[in-house]
Amino acid sequence: MEPILQIQHVSIDFTQYESRKGTSRRCLQVIRDLSLTLYPGQVMAVVGASGSGKSLLAHGILHILPYNSHMRGEILYNGEPLTKERAKRLRGREIVLIPQGVTYLDPLMKVGAQIRKGRRDEASRRMSREALGRYGLSPDTEDLYPFELSGGMARRVLIAAATVEKPRFVIADEPTPGLDTVSAGRILAHLREIADAGAGVLLITHDLELALRIADRVAVFYAGETIEDAAASDFADPSLLRHPFTKALWHAMPGHGFRTIAGAQPYPGTAERGCPFVSSCVDCVDKCREAEEIAPRYVRGGWVRCLRVQQDTTEAGTENGDLGEGMEE
Ligand SMILES: Nc1ncnc2c1ncn2[C@@H]1O[C@H](COP(=O)(O)OP(=O)(O)O)[C@@H](O)[C@H]1O
Ligand SMILES: [Mg+2]
Repeated sequence: MEPILQIQHVSIDFTQYESRKGTSRRCLQVIRDLSLTLYPGQVMAVVGASGSGKSLLAHGILHILPYNSHMRGEILYNGEPLTKERAKRLRGREIVLIPQGVTYLDPLMKVGAQIRKGRRDEASRRMSREALGRYGLSPDTEDLYPFELSGGMARRVLIAAATVEKPRFVIADEPTPGLDTVSAGRILAHLREIADAGAGVLLITHDLELALRIADRVAVFYAGETIEDAAASDFADPSLLRHPFTKALWHAMPGHGFRTIAGAQPYPGTAERGCPFVSSCVDCVDKCREAEEIAPRYVRGGWVRCLRVQQDTTEAGTENGDLGEGMEE
C-alpha cells in the first residue's frame, strides 16, 4: 500500500536574534532529522513532552510555520512532494488540522457558518448539524459566536469544523485537553473512525495513555528527535519496547506505577552531540555521550535511536524502511 504521508529527514530550526540590536544571530534546531511514514487507515501517534516540537511538526507539514523558522528535508503526500502551493490547495479540504489552540476560530463568524465554510445549501446545513451532534452539541450551537462557547464547546466545534468534509489526512494537535472524559472519548473514537474509513490520522499528544487508546503506531519524541517508532501493541509489555526513555514513559503511566522520570528533557536543539536522554538514562555508557550521530536502528519491526540496542541483522530495514532509510551507510 502506498503511504499517505512520508516525512523524510525533516529538521526545523529557528533563527533568533540574541542582542537587542539584533546583531548576534543564533540558530536553534528544534526538530532534528525526523522521519515517519503514515499509511491510509492508520492512526500514528506522535507522543512527546510539552515543548518538544510537536506543534511545529504539524505546522511544518502544512507549511504554516512562523516566519523565523526554516524547514529542511522532504515531505511526500500520496507519493508526491507536499509543496507550499500544494499544501495551501489541500489545506482545510483533503488535509485538515485540528489545531491545539481554540483561537483558530474566527471570532466574528457564527459557528454554523464556520463549519459550513460559508455555504448555505440544505446539504451543507445537514452535514453541519450532524457534525455538531456527533460531539454532543445541539443544532442551535450553529447560531452562536465563538465568545458564547465554553472552552470545551469551542474545542468540539473546531473538531466538527475540521472533519465535516471527509478528510484524507487529519493532523490532530492535542485534540482533547480540557475536555471531560466523555467528550474526549468521543473525539478519539471519531478519529479512529476517520482512519477506519481509509484516511491517515496523525495524533499529536503529550499523553501516551490517551494515544494508546486509538493508535496503531507510536512515534516517541524526545528533545526534538524521534527516539522510537513502535507498534502500539508493543506497549502491552515494556520488554517489547526499545528505548530506555520509552520504557521509562511506560513505567510513568498511571496503571504502571506512575514512576517519575529522573532529570529534565533538554531544550530542543541544545544537545550538541550524543543521546539527548543520556543524563536520565539508566543504561548509558561513554559512547552514548560522545556519538556524533545516533542513526535509527531497525529492531523487531520498529525503529530506535539507541546505541545500547542491537539492530536486527536479518531483515534490517526491509520492512517499513522509513526511519532508517538512507541513514545506515
Ligand atoms: N516562533 C518561534 N521562535 C522561537 N522558538 C519557538 C517558536 N515557536 C516555538 N518555539 C519553540 O520551539 C519548541 C517547540 O514548540 P512546540 O512545537 O510548540 O512544542 P509542543 O507542541 O511539543 O509543546 C518550544 O521550545 C518553543 O519554545
Ligand atoms: Mg503543541
